Amino acid sequence: MHSVDAKTEQMIRSVLAYAENRLRLDPVPLDKGSRDPADLDVALAGLLGEDGHDPDQVLGVYAALLAPAVISADSPRFLGFIPAAPTKASLLFDMLISCASIQGISWLEAAGPIHAENQVLRLIADRAGMPAGAGGCFVSGGSAANLSALAVAREVAKRSSGTRTSARKRAVVGSDAHSSITNTLRLLEMDALVVPTAEHRLSGEAVRTAIEADADPGSLAVIVATAGTTNAGIVDDLAGLAAVAADRGLWFHVDGAYGGAGLFAPSVRAAYDGIEHADSFVLDPHKWLFAPFDCAALLYRNPTLARSVHRQDAGYLDVIHEQPGEWNPTDYAYHLTRRARGMPLWFSLCVHGVRAYSTAIEQAISLARQTADEIRSRDYLELIREPDLSVVLFRRVGWRSADYTAWADRLLDDQVAFIPPTTWEGETVARFAFLHPHTPMGLITEILDRMADA
Ligand SMILES: Cc1ncc(COP(=O)(O)O)c(C=O)c1O
Repeated sequence: MHSVDAKTEQMIRSVLAYAENRLRLDPVPLDKGSRDPADLDVALAGLLGEDGHDPDQVLGVYAALLAPAVISADSPRFLGFIPAAPTKASLLFDMLISCASIQGISWLEAAGPIHAENQVLRLIADRAGMPAGAGGCFVSGGSAANLSALAVAREVAKRSSGTRTSARKRAVVGSDAHSSITNTLRLLEMDALVVPTAEHRLSGEAVRTAIEADADPGSLAVIVATAGTTNAGIVDDLAGLAAVAADRGLWFHVDGAYGGAGLFAPSVRAAYDGIEHADSFVLDPHKWLFAPFDCAALLYRNPTLARSVHRQDAGYLDVIHEQPGEWNPTDYAYHLTRRARGMPLWFSLCVHGVRAYSTAIEQAISLARQTADEIRSRDYLELIREPDLSVVLFRRVGWRSADYTAWADRLLDDQVAFIPPTTWEGETVARFAFLHPHTPMGLITEILDRMADA
């Protein structure tokens, strides 16, 4: 299994040929994710057992039956959720990193890749205006990053209030914060002070008022801001929230898992003013910085604090903490083993240059604006709000929830687009979430046309 024998040679040829063909797809077809589990059982029958099989047979099953049972996130027709739209360069390099089995835990084991990852983190920190000492690591996603950052925020608050053991800490959150924040608070045994938002945007003023009215402000540890809400792409009042956090001595966390990439888009950069004050900042390159799954950048203003919470100590790990110039990504989140998941982004950024990224991000923003204009021009549609980033919410006049579902199902069945509905203030509505720079305006008009006579 570990030597380069005839079977390995066969796999190298077949798997690389498959990967090559997949990489050459332009555009990538949409396909369809959901399947009857019984059909999948039949497809896989007999493959997983005591005895091995011919690699081409197994690959054939994958290619014919499993690969098409996926809605391809890298298709320009994927317009739902906010998954990924990786560059070809990043996909290629992801493969290379996997082949090299790089263990991106410690400076001792992987100083080269870690140094390159840190340059990418520095690039992001510079765009945010964070200080020279800022740093962190790449983790698997925004959920993991939010959990790791808020664990630090809670610990810092406990230390400063001297109540390390029992008192529960709380976080100030807006009602449009991502679902992973709710999960994080539950896992950390923290409570939320949920502040109602005007127009779904958390403001410093609203938070200041809520804290002044709160019966137990001493239990507050952190203000959580969102830079690009998932449902609508709204950037909170970061400057106002940073000011309240500073006045109150609270940790300031900015969840920019989706929208953080807007820092690279000059047309919207001003919306992020105040982000430079973040104590922790999350940006998922696997969303809008065109990296493959799974990749989230986690940055701390003061990484020493993060290390004091996350560093793992054991006799067998002492050696990784004794390296000159050491920067151990493992010290900055709740993980130990990690792949060097920032490397595909590093390679792609080096190959294409940062300007190409800005252009591609602006493309999705521009598409959102054109789509809003198109919606306004049709009397059977209503734009719910002007898009701030690359999400567009709109309603079809007279439709109920089942109509949106039927429309979305038909679009997927016909392989036109994947555009699942969402809810907005309790109402089912339609939502475009643009990431891929090659999504054409013609596709948008086709999708909207199909609401006219549906
Ligand atoms: C604002 C925000 N935060 C956090 C997350 C969670 O990120 P992940 O899916 O990478 O765990 C998302 C995902 O859509 C998000 O939009």
